[in-house]
Amino acid sequence: MNNFAFLATRREYRAFSKDCIDAEAAFQNSYDSCVKLVRTAVDAAIKWVYTTEKKLSGMSDDLFALISNPPFEQLIGKSLAKKLHYCRKLGNSAIHNEKEFSAVEAQNCLKNLFEFVQWIDKRYGKNFEPRTFSSPLDDAELLQTELLGMKLSTPIFAASGTFGFGEEFENFVDLKRLGGVMVKCITLNPRRGNDGVRITETPSGMLNCIGLENPGVETFLTEILPRIKDKMNVIVNVSGSSIDDYGELARLLDVDGVAAIELNISCPNVKDGGIIFGTDETQAAKVTSAAKSATSKPVIVKLSPNVTDITKIARACESAGADCLSLINTLMGMEINVHTWRPTLGNITGGLSGGAIKPVAVRMVWQTAQAVKIPIIGMGGIRSAEDAAEFFLAGASAVAIGTANFLEPSITMKLADDLINYLRGCGLKNIRELVGRIKIDNV
Ligand SMILES: Cc1cc2nc3c(=O)[nH]c(=O)nc-3n(C[C@H](O)[C@H](O)[C@H](O)COP(=O)(O)O)c2cc1C
Repeated sequence: MNNFAFLATRREYRAFSKDCIDAEAAFQNSYDSCVKLVRTAVDAAIKWVYTTEKKLSGMSDDLFALISNPPFEQLIGKSLAKKLHYCRKLGNSAIHNEKEFSAVEAQNCLKNLFEFVQWIDKRYGKNFEPRTFSSPLDDAELLQTELLGMKLSTPIFAASGTFGFGEEFENFVDLKRLGGVMVKCITLNPRRGNDGVRITETPSGMLNCIGLENPGVETFLTEILPRIKDKMNVIVNVSGSSIDDYGELARLLDVDGVAAIELNISCPNVKDGGIIFGTDETQAAKVTSAAKSATSKPVIVKLSPNVTDITKIARACESAGADCLSLINTLMGMEINVHTWRPTLGNITGGLSGGAIKPVAVRMVWQTAQAVKIPIIGMGGIRSAEDAAEFFLAGASAVAIGTANFLEPSITMKLADDLINYLRGCGLKNIRELVGRIKIDNV
């Protein structure tokens, strides 16, 4: 995008340049805010024309009257005046919350504003050069993809356990711009989680042993899901102590508002479940079939990196009917306080996540992508668009961001913007063109 960036370099346009740039930036987060901000920018630019154009008279505080003022309309032309009216009309309804605006309407407003700014630059600018409007919708299309029968605005997910139930991030993130949110792990009964220290930052990565603290499936279904289901694609991460638990959870969650179920068979932080199913092919297959036969929802199986050969588990899950694989969960780790000689974490060991595990995750996604045909959601240490691009190149169809959300709650949005620029730089039209495109010379 950056249609209005050139204004920032011209001191003479100071009175409205920031408003234009802000309006365009808002498009990424909220079409309503974009429409409102376009109105502010249009008003500022009209006032600027009135102050600059000596022959205009009839200054009034009423912007509607200013646009309709015949000498002004004559100056800019009827058609452009009409476009400015359009922006102001939509802007006013946005301010009064009369309706929700679509991407196309927000884009139309930006386009009209752009035309006006071009007109201004042509008439008053010292170094006018004709520019064409670059559509933010084309930008949005770069990241649009499909997964598990869902049309996604971006292939960027929030990883389970690092994003709460999504609503906690509402003020930082346009939740609809995420492919989906893998909500905090849900179990059949509520869990308090582990005692003692549950998170520690090491010089290279974060260690956690939360221990699957959650309110249980019943509270999730009755209290949480109704609140969040229209705000995002909800992927419910589940964990059980037995194969039957997974089947039961999948059955209970086969309800409206759940987009998919992610089987956490890889939690290294609880004694009674998760990881034992993720480190044994037969168990992994049994858990997958139990869930598949109990639900009509797509089933994603989340794999553990704490295995010798991840492809064996991946194939077993695929054969048992998994629709998708997500990987990796955390790597089992430990830290010892050398002053007290005690482990830092209450649970002694914990799961390592963050930048340090990215090379392991990329390697595992690459190996798994060659072993199975079902799609993969890659995760582990992603902090930037370049990090994410590695996962796509390795064969992931989508990515999830975990630990980085703790450092920067809006990281997923920045990553989406940066990924668009990366794709443009590569000359690609859609993210799907990057999937599995790693180049390896024959050795
Ligand atoms: C504090 C914390 C809690 C987590 N809880 C869950 C969980 O409930 N279920 C799950 O499948 N993964 C859980 N994970 C693993 C993440 O979803 C992700 O797979 C892992 O952290 C790797 O990605 P990252 O390096 O981007 O964080 C958790 C990770 C962290 C850091």
